[in-house]
Amino acid sequence: MTTTAHKVATSAAATQTLSPCILDDDPTQLDVLSAQISRMGYEAIATADPQEALELIHHGRSRFILADIHMPGMDGLAFLDQALRIDPGVHVILTTGDYSLESAVEAIRRGAYDFLPKPIDYARLKKTLDEAAVLFDQRKRVRELEEQLLKDHEFHGIVGKSPAMLEVFDLARKVAKHYNNVLLVGATGTGKELVAHALHQLSPVSQQRMAVCNCSAMVDTLLESQLFGHVRGAFTGATDTRPGLFEYANGGTVFLDEVGETSLAMQAKLLRVIQNREIQRVGSPEVRQVTVRMIAATNRDLRAEVLAGRFREDLFYRLSSIQIRIPSLSARLEDIPLLMQFFLKKYNEAYGKQIAGLTRRAQTILLQHSWPGNVRELENVISSACITATGEFIDIADLPEQLQKPEAKQADRENWRPLSLDEVRRVHIQRVLDMCQGNRLRAAQILGIGRTSLYRYLKRDTFLGHHGLRAGGAIS
Ligand SMILES: Nc1ncnc2c1ncn2[C@@H]1O[C@H](COP(=O)(O)OP(=O)(O)OP(=O)(O)O)[C@@H](O)[C@H]1O
Ligand SMILES: [Mg+2]
Repeated sequence: MTTTAHKVATSAAATQTLSPCILDDDPTQLDVLSAQISRMGYEAIATADPQEALELIHHGRSRFILADIHMPGMDGLAFLDQALRIDPGVHVILTTGDYSLESAVEAIRRGAYDFLPKPIDYARLKKTLDEAAVLFDQRKRVRELEEQLLKDHEFHGIVGKSPAMLEVFDLARKVAKHYNNVLLVGATGTGKELVAHALHQLSPVSQQRMAVCNCSAMVDTLLESQLFGHVRGAFTGATDTRPGLFEYANGGTVFLDEVGETSLAMQAKLLRVIQNREIQRVGSPEVRQVTVRMIAATNRDLRAEVLAGRFREDLFYRLSSIQIRIPSLSARLEDIPLLMQFFLKKYNEAYGKQIAGLTRRAQTILLQHSWPGNVRELENVISSACITATGEFIDIADLPEQLQKPEAKQADRENWRPLSLDEVRRVHIQRVLDMCQGNRLRAAQILGIGRTSLYRYLKRDTFLGHHGLRAGGAIS
C-alpha cells in the first residue's frame, strides 16, 4: 500500500519538473504528440526549431526531448550530439519513420536515451516518461540528502568527513577553550586559515577582535610596525602614532600566518610577546602589556628550520606546545566528493548557475589527481568549471587542461632525461610557478624557500614561463 502511494506521490511531483519537449518539423505530429503527452500527465513544450530546443536545454527548462530524426536543417543525430554537449544529463529520445535495428543501436551508442519507431507506441512512451520522471525525482532527493550530509560534516565552514579531518575538528574543539598559543601546520591550501578562524570563534574571546597578519607579505620593518605599532617620527613616513595589531586585538586573538618566514630578529620580538605578553611600539621606550591569544601557521617543517638555524628553537617550543596538523588533500581523498559539492553550491550561488554535479568521468579525474595545491586548487577547479559549464553537469572539457590528460604523467616517465641537478631545479621551479599562475610569493612557499632565494634562482636561470616571467622581473 505504502509503496504504491509513495510511487504515485513521486510521479505527481516529478511530472511537474520533467517538462518534456517535442521537436518535430511536422506540425500535425507536434499537435498529436502534445495532446497525447498531456493526457499522460505531462505538460509538453512543442517546437519545430532545433535551435529553440537547444536553448531550452541550455537554460535548464527541459531535460527530456523527443526529437524526430529527419528534420531539415539539423538531423536528429546532430541534434543529439549538440544537446549532450550542452548538458550530458539530458534525456534525448529519437523517433523515426524508418526504424532499423542498426540505426537504433547507433543512436543509443551516441548517447540517445531511447529510439522509438513511428507511429509511436504511446504506452511505451508513457513508460519512458514515467521512468525519467522517477529518475529525476530520485536525483533531486539524493541531492537533498547530500545537502543534509554536507551540513552534518561542516565545522565552522570547514568541510570534511575523513577520520583525519574529524580529528582536526575534535582537537580544535578541545583546545579552543584553553589555548594561549597554537601552531597550525599543513601544506599550502589545506585550510589553516579556516581552522584559525574556527579556533577564535570557539574560544571564550570570540566576541573580541581577531587580527590577521601575513608575516611573509612584508619586509621586517613594516612587519614590526604592523604588529607592534609605532610612534610619530619613529621612521621616515611615520607621520602619526599608531597602535599595532597586538594592541588592536588586545583581549582577543592574533593570527600570525606564515610564521616560518619571519627573520631571526623578528622571532626574538615574537618570543617576548609569547613569554611576557609585552610589546613596544617602534620608536617608543614604553613597554605595554597585552592579553592576546596567539595562533601561528606555517607550511614549513619548523623543526627542520630550527636545525638549519633559520628558526629559534625557544620560539618553536613556545609556539608548538599545542600543534594541529592539517593533512594534505591527497591523504584524505574521501573528502573530495563532499568538498566538490560544497564548492559547487558556493559557486552556483555566486554565478547564478544551477549545475547539479559532475559527470562520473569528470569525478574520476578529480579523484585521480594528486592535488599539490590542496583544497585551494580544488576550489579553483570547481569555480572555473562553474563558469565554463553550460549544462546541468560539469564535464571533462570544463576541467583545466593538465587534468584532462592524465596520460601526461605516463608521458613524463617516458620523457625522462638524465638532467643535471641545476636543470631539475630550473624545471621544477618553472612548474611550480606555472601552477601558481606566476605568483612568486606562493611559489616560494610551496618550494619551501624564501622569496629572496627564489628571486636568486630566477636571476641565475633563464625563465621564460607561460606567465611572461623573466629573471629580474618584479616579485609578485
Ligand atoms: N576543508 C575545507 N572546507 C572548505 N573550504 C576549504 C577547506 N580547506 C580549505 N578551504 C578553502 O580553500 C582555500 C584555501 O584555504 P586556506 O587559505 O585556509 O589555506 P591555507 O592552509 O591557509 O593555505 P596557505 O598556506 O597557502 O596560506 C580557501 O578558500 C578556503 O576557504
Ligand atoms: Mg593561509
